[in-house]
Amino acid sequence: MTDVGIDAIEIWTGKLKLDLPNTFAPAKGEDPEKYTKGLGLNASSFPDTYEDIVTMGANAAHRLMEHEGLTPEDIGRIDVATESSFDNSKPVSTYIAGCLERVYEGKFSHANKGERKFACLAGTQSIDDAYNWIKSGRNRGRSALVIATDTALYARNDPGEATQGAGAVAMLISEDPDLVSLSTEQGYGSADETDFLKPNQQFPSVDGKRSVQVYLARMREALEDFEGVAGRTHTDDFAYIPFHTPFPGMVRKAALFGYRHMIRDTSMEDDLAGEIGRQPREEAFDSEGDFEEALREYMDGLKRTDAYQEWYARVVDPTLTISREVGNWYTGSVHLARASALKTAFEEGRELAGERLLVGSYGSGAQAEIHAETVQPGWEEKIADLTIDEGIERRYDLDYDEYERVHDVHNHDIESDGDGEIEEFTAPESEFVFDGWGRMGERKYRFVE
Ligand code: COA
Repeated sequence: MTDVGIDAIEIWTGKLKLDLPNTFAPAKGEDPEKYTKGLGLNASSFPDTYEDIVTMGANAAHRLMEHEGLTPEDIGRIDVATESSFDNSKPVSTYIAGCLERVYEGKFSHANKGERKFACLAGTQSIDDAYNWIKSGRNRGRSALVIATDTALYARNDPGEATQGAGAVAMLISEDPDLVSLSTEQGYGSADETDFLKPNQQFPSVDGKRSVQVYLARMREALEDFEGVAGRTHTDDFAYIPFHTPFPGMVRKAALFGYRHMIRDTSMEDDLAGEIGRQPREEAFDSEGDFEEALREYMDGLKRTDAYQEWYARVVDPTLTISREVGNWYTGSVHLARASALKTAFEEGRELAGERLLVGSYGSGAQAEIHAETVQPGWEEKIADLTIDEGIERRYDLDYDEYERVHDVHNHDIESDGDGEIEEFTAPESEFVFDGWGRMGERKYRFVE
């Protein structure tokens, strides 16, 4: 049967930047290294006053269609993954299709459009839907457009405020893809959790510390489930392991757990035993507390070994380069991680076709999904088309006052009285922009040449 996977990708970052160590940390009276070293973030992206999840998604999709020479008739499905939707009925994909129809002659009249929700996992679930649609033979030779778009804002002074971000990732899902094909095998870890939620409110209720623990627990279950169908995973099986990245420090924790799991009962565990001992086994301990203490000690040792550090620098660190500069994009984050890895390989001139990735997605609430991907022979050309470096570079650097005003502009509960209206920071060019409200409360958009 033919391979199905990601044929092309494009990334659009919000056009404003908040410098975390130099602007945010001093205003909060915090050590800049909490951001750069602890969380692993240099900056967050924010939408300019005329940007939102529709403009960012439509701009990413438009660029993707231009690179690929596509017209609306080539697309049989548009799924938008978001946790920042502003309408409980009309899906964001209809707004994005409406934008795109302003610049193309054809229409998406025969495309199935929808919106997917499961916190940050929904982008991966939308790829899954597209994969199943193509594999079932219902696509009539057409491709699916999957767009993960979010404005990840937290309430002011919430600990999550440090990990905000905004942007969109558009992906084309096709038969015989040029970038990566997806494995049939996948694993899930799923449980009813209340770590992060938005019960009809814009900003999330978050139990941050707990969300970190839930992420790790669900990811471990998903890996075990994946291994149940695909066989055991080993540290050298994968060129890169992109994880959902709310902030790079989270991935640092997940990678260490993954490594410990993969080397258990292998010669690598034996090789490291002289230096840090063997991994503690639960049955050897009288109490759970003693076992957990021994595990913590082992992990501390493992983290410092040359073997782990070399593996982390080669397989995981390259997945974090984009996230470090843009923050958390919720549904788009794991797709930024994959793109970062492939971009690094491209810049290093690495031959990657035929190599595999292990992709770990996560959504609060909570569910993790793990599958494998195989890099395809056409990957280099597709990665060469990415415009994210220019996007990151051209952002307007906000001072703290401006950041506060931008946060208010995007806060749905703060009505602008006209007086305090803030000017845009950047000039739109060849892109879709927000153009005010219609008579039924709908949002309107236009394309600026
Ligand atoms: N130098 C170096 N590291 C520092 C530091 C400094 N000056 N100050 C703090 N750090 C480290 C901390 O040790 C910690 O790392 P560790 O967890 O490995 O120990 C990290 O930076 C974060 O510091 P912490 O004090 O825990 O931050 P916080 O209390 O502000 O909250 C989160 C961190 C993640 C809980 C918070 O950002 C949050 O709620 N985020 C949103 C939810 C989220 O993204 N969850 C992830 C799963 S989806």
